[in-house]
Amino acid sequence: MKILLLNGPNLQLLGTREPEIYGRTTLPDIEAAVAALGAELGCEVAARQSNCEGELVGWIGSARREGFSGIILNAGAYTHTSVALRDAIAAVGLPAVEVHLSNVASREEFRNRSYIAPVCAGVIAGFGPDSYLLALRALVSRCGGRHC
Ligand code: DQA
Repeated sequence: MKILLLNGPNLQLLGTREPEIYGRTTLPDIEAAVAALGAELGCEVAARQSNCEGELVGWIGSARREGFSGIILNAGAYTHTSVALRDAIAAVGLPAVEVHLSNVASREEFRNRSYIAPVCAGVIAGFGPDSYLLALRALVSRCGGRHC
């Protein structure tokens, strides 16, 4: 089983970006941890990051064709603004898990709204880098280890 791990805008800066909110773990460290857990769970994880909404939309749209069974997505600020990302997830029809390092529900009001959550299998937020690992476990469990 292949899982697509997508990170959106500004997440390439993890490690130095507002560490009091996002911690000191870098994106390559998170990607490596997800890949290691994937290997344990018997799945391959392909990790990509972009600051461009259109590039994220393109990757989601081609995920089924590329043979992915599910998507883990931290869309960063696009979570709170992007109808295009929401439509891409709905269109591709693969299970997706929305993740956030921080607990967006406890922050500014504009972060309380996700355009993406209604078309995702679920949302995991507030556990720092563990949010990604929990998302992978949830996705693999949902897919039952098969192509879904
Ligand atoms: C974030 C939360 C978003 O509100 C913010 O814009 C981010 C990071 C998180 O992982 O906590 O860029 O997605």
